[in-house]
Amino acid sequence: MKPLAFLLAITSVMIAAWFAPAGATRVQAMPRAADAANGAALFQQYDCAKCHQADANGGLGPDGEEAPKIAGTRLSYDDFIAQIRMPVDRMQAFPDMGDADGQDLYAYLKTLP
Ligand code: HEC
Repeated sequence: MKPLAFLLAITSVMIAAWFAPAGATRVQAMPRAADAANGAALFQQYDCAKCHQADANGGLGPDGEEAPKIAGTRLSYDDFIAQIRMPVDRMQAFPDMGDADGQDLYAYLKTLP
């Protein structure tokens, strides 16, 4: 191989290596799709049913809190996650719930009648 051809070959390999990780990062940065099945598991894990009942149609919590129906919620996602992290009244707060869990829970509740 002539020196110039060798240099070109090496350079193109280096350029390819430089851009490959950037491409991978872009793919990871794409928004994840909400997972309603995982949301069903989170509903159990966070024990939302303790007050909202297993069918999420609302009821009384252990201290007589009147928990409204959240099945098929009409709240926007932003209002939904705000209520979970900083409830307006007597609901238990989940201040550390991340958006991944929040979106999955929201997607699950949207599937319920
Ligand atoms: C300790 C009882 C309790 C638990 C546990 C609880 N909630 Fe609530 N929730 C309430 C009460 C009571 C309200 C009425 C507003 C308030 O008190 O803040 C409410 C209101 C809501 C609302 C607003 C409904 C609307 O349409 O305005 C949403 C959404 C909600 N809860 C979701 C959840 C989710 C999701 C979980 C589990 C992560 C959960 N809640 C756990 C008692 C509870």
